[in-house]
Amino acid sequence: MDSQNIYILGIESSCDDTAAAVMHNGRVLSNVVAGQSVHEAYGGVVPELASRAHQQNIVPVVHEALKRANIDKSQLSAIAFTRGPGLMGSLLVGTSFAKSMALGLDIPLIDVNHMQAHILAHFIDEEGFNKPPFPFLAMTISGGHTQIVRVNDHFNMEIIGETIDDAVGEAYDKSGKLLGLGYPAGPEIDKRAKLGNPKAFIFSKPKVDGLNFSFSGLKTGILYFIQEQTKKDPDFVEINRNDICASIQHTIIEILMDKLKLASKQTGIKHIAIGGGVSANSGIRSALKEAESKYGWTTYIPKFEFTTDNAAMIAIVGHLKFLQNDFAPTDVAATSRLRL
Ligand code: KG4
Ligand code: ZN
Repeated sequence: MDSQNIYILGIESSCDDTAAAVMHNGRVLSNVVAGQSVHEAYGGVVPELASRAHQQNIVPVVHEALKRANIDKSQLSAIAFTRGPGLMGSLLVGTSFAKSMALGLDIPLIDVNHMQAHILAHFIDEEGFNKPPFPFLAMTISGGHTQIVRVNDHFNMEIIGETIDDAVGEAYDKSGKLLGLGYPAGPEIDKRAKLGNPKAFIFSKPKVDGLNFSFSGLKTGILYFIQEQTKKDPDFVEINRNDICASIQHTIIEILMDKLKLASKQTGIKHIAIGGGVSANSGIRSALKEAESKYGWTTYIPKFEFTTDNAAMIAIVGHLKFLQNDFAPTDVAATSRLRL
């Protein structure tokens, strides 16, 4: 095989996005994501519907990724797929598809940890984006996770803090539900937050020791606050929606930044990266930018299309593992609770 020309097909199916990407020597040639609108009506992901939609989407999505990359599948060097963590039924679709395709093409199969991929997305070759030097801190903030990770090397990572209950994305999505917003509510709260007053309402921040997070209390606090206010004025949410969104966002960003500051102080590391769906948030992005001059940090914010679930991040892990000849055995199994 020509080691100068590594073509990796990445496949992601851990939750409710079916995604495929083709990468050439660490550069993205195509990055295709098919979302699943079927869950909107339920205000959250319905696992059975997700795996069914993955089954329908996976062939056309992979086909489209190869087409946009303008390569033939016979040129592929290896196939990388998300092994976990995620929803079992969803992971199984990507895993079995990747296995049979690799077997059919007689090329290596590479298993990828989804959370590692959110972090290693920073190593995609992309103009205008620098790769963080080791060690750096990565805060992964998504619908399923909230972690601060000390990254010593590509494949040497230590979780130094994480949520003890809800993930930050859940805090966004559940608050959005209380405000009558669609699912997922994160992007909508972010949009409305820009139009509202972040100091309009005060929500109390959780008191959790060390570098761990908690978001379930915030959600309950918001619920009681809305119930109380609507008793006094049934139109309260309607009238104040943007201010409520801005205040929630302000509180969440303070919680995240407080822990990041503590992590940087404790470890002495000033190279700080974020990843995961919530790193698309405009508030957290500007808070990080401000922290550069305030605390002397160098920050790494992923390109927008690599924040929410995508297969380019799976392909870059595939590329890095390919360089180390780190391949999966043919009996590799999807693992819904895979740890970093
Ligand atoms: O990483 P991701 O696509 O899927 C998981 O692995 O969970 O993250 C999805 C989460 C959802 O909770 C969504 O509401 C949140 O990311 N999200 C945002 C924004 N865009 C997506 N949260 C806040 N602001 C945003 N702009
Ligand atoms: Zn994710």
